[in-house]
Amino acid sequence: MPWDVIKLNDGNVIPKIAFGTWTLGNGQQATDNVDQAIDVGFTHIDTAQSYRNEAEAGVAIHESGLAREDLFITTKYSGLNGLDVETSIQNSLQNLGVKYVDLYLVHHPRLAVPDIPTLWAKMEKIKQDGFAKSIGVSNFEIEDLQVLLASAKIKPAANQVLLAWASAKGAIVVTSSTKKERLEGYLDAGDIKLTPEDVSAIDSAGVAGARCMVVRSTLKRLVVVALVGAAVLGTCGYFGIDVL
Ligand SMILES: NC(=O)c1ccc[n+]([C@@H]2O[C@H](COP(=O)([O-])OP(=O)(O)OC[C@H]3O[C@@H](n4cnc5c(N)ncnc54)[C@H](OP(=O)(O)O)[C@@H]3O)[C@@H](O)[C@H]2O)c1
Repeated sequence: MPWDVIKLNDGNVIPKIAFGTWTLGNGQQATDNVDQAIDVGFTHIDTAQSYRNEAEAGVAIHESGLAREDLFITTKYSGLNGLDVETSIQNSLQNLGVKYVDLYLVHHPRLAVPDIPTLWAKMEKIKQDGFAKSIGVSNFEIEDLQVLLASAKIKPAANQVLLAWASAKGAIVVTSSTKKERLEGYLDAGDIKLTPEDVSAIDSAGVAGARCMVVRSTLKRLVVVALVGAAVLGTCGYFGIDVL
């Protein structure tokens, strides 16, 4: 199960695979799912203020009995309830029941109010105060990163984007599957070693697959148009309306 770690630009390391809590909802079920992920061997939990289940993750983290340094916890500033980032990080730490998170992200550039440099300076202070070991962003476009980097004292350690990709590409994989066997499968997949030829064959298959999807969906649309057209023509015919 060698899903090892990636070294971030600030020297900290992040496990290459994470369990995400986005779709888990609230209550005991959410805690049980995080419990299950930790039980099968996930050590990286990815949550966010807006997932509204940091507290459930916190319970599972504590029930795991693992030492704090044996877990990597990511959470995000999502602007929930209009709270500022200074208040939000304190709420997240309290919800998770920890003194620091390993990675704190700005969930989306639109949260950068009044602007990216102002919010990023506050993120830098959060890191300097020890509430986050690393700071980063999420869903940032190149232009957003350029604005950020122009004034940043600390460069973002990560830009989390939606991925369904693999470790061979240097990506960090996050899953939220509720099925134990799938979680075990994800970890086992860490043993699979792909050659550069394998990776490029998969890339080509992906491109071909994407083209097929476009063709399939275009065909589907044509079939729908044809069926609707036939229905309209049939109805027009029934009512004696001429279609020119
Ligand atoms: N920063 C951001 O803006 C952002 C955006 C999106 C996601 N994320 C993070 O990424 C995490 C994962 O995202 P996600 O929930 O979209 O990913 P996911 O792991 O692909 O889960 C989505 C659905 O796919 C199913 N699934 C997962 N693995 C499967 C498999 N091997 N075979 C068949 N079905 C499978 C799961 O159902 P089962 O439960 O039945 O397995 C789940 O309902 C989130 O929890 C969050 O932490 C971050």
